[in-house]
Amino acid sequence: MVEETMRGFFTFLAHNKPLIKIARKSGLTLGGSHFVGGQEVDGMVDQVKEFNQKGLGVTVDCLGERIDGTEDAKATVNLCYQAIHALHENKLKGQISLKLYSVGLELSEEIAIHNMRNILEEAKEHNVFVTINMEEYKNCGKIIQIFRNLRKEYDNIGIALQANLYRTETDVEKLDELSPTIRFVKGAYKESRDVDMDDKSNVDSNYQNLVKTNLLKGNYTQIATHDNDMIDFVKKIVKEYQIPLDQFEFQMLQGMRDEKQKELSDEGYNVVVYVPFGPDWYTYFMKRLAERPANVGFTLMSVFRR
Ligand code: FDA
Repeated sequence: MVEETMRGFFTFLAHNKPLIKIARKSGLTLGGSHFVGGQEVDGMVDQVKEFNQKGLGVTVDCLGERIDGTEDAKATVNLCYQAIHALHENKLKGQISLKLYSVGLELSEEIAIHNMRNILEEAKEHNVFVTINMEEYKNCGKIIQIFRNLRKEYDNIGIALQANLYRTETDVEKLDELSPTIRFVKGAYKESRDVDMDDKSNVDSNYQNLVKTNLLKGNYTQIATHDNDMIDFVKKIVKEYQIPLDQFEFQMLQGMRDEKQKELSDEGYNVVVYVPFGPDWYTYFMKRLAERPANVGFTLMSVFRR
């Protein structure tokens, strides 16, 4: 009950326009730097360097949380260019991630595809891999179809799929012909019961089945979770089926389970940290607090440590 109220509260804050404006002007405050790589490119580069020095790879999430017109979508494209150039010029170990929403999917599919082609071209030229995040169920089919078409043109593109959805098992089967790189996530959006497994134990066992299927098909697999049970399962099956270490990686959000990230890396696994970047840090940050109100504890600690 308390969790639900807090979720509602942070979701409200995430979409509060006056607060979004203030946050854009004030820079990374409120403990946001715990979960966000940087509002500006320099801050992001410093953060990525720090992770790389610890042996961790990075995927820079180019944030575009509110797209009201083509100029907003272009701003996300520019943010992606900045990230691509910064990773390349500084010789950093990094990829980028983004939502199709942020490049204009809600404006029109044509705009989003056009913007994605520009980003993928730039990324290809600078040897950077691009992952499309997964969004609400209503756009899931559209996003997968766009990924399908772009994957036929580009090698440097992957997609996130959600284990909470019944449809994902079929999506994995159908996408196999493209030898896709897939990032498996449990799913951050609350969907209706007819499409969403909802129950945690069902989502967890689906997560494990999906990861296992994709690994055994020989496809590159990104295991994006903070859950020890999922991580231990992957460790077990890669050993059992002798899956090479360069066929998969663990991924976690910046600010979540730092010690586990290091532990996995020390054990020899590839670990990639998801580093949010851009002026929309505040909305992203509030959404993370809504998703897991326990994160408020981290935030308060980092605010008071200043
Ligand atoms: P879950 O939230 O189920 O937690 C299970 C257990 O993990 C907990 O009980 C606890 O034991 C442990 N745990 C979790 N967090 C912890 C912490 N901070 N400290 C200690 N223990 C902790 N979603 C989406 O819909 N579309 C997307 O594109 C993406 N992209 C994405 C990328 C990356 C790199 C990540 C890591 C996640 C996403 N997500 C996402 C979010 C994802 O769908 C999901 O909501 C969160 O990762 C939470 O699910 P988990 O699998 O981490 O564990």
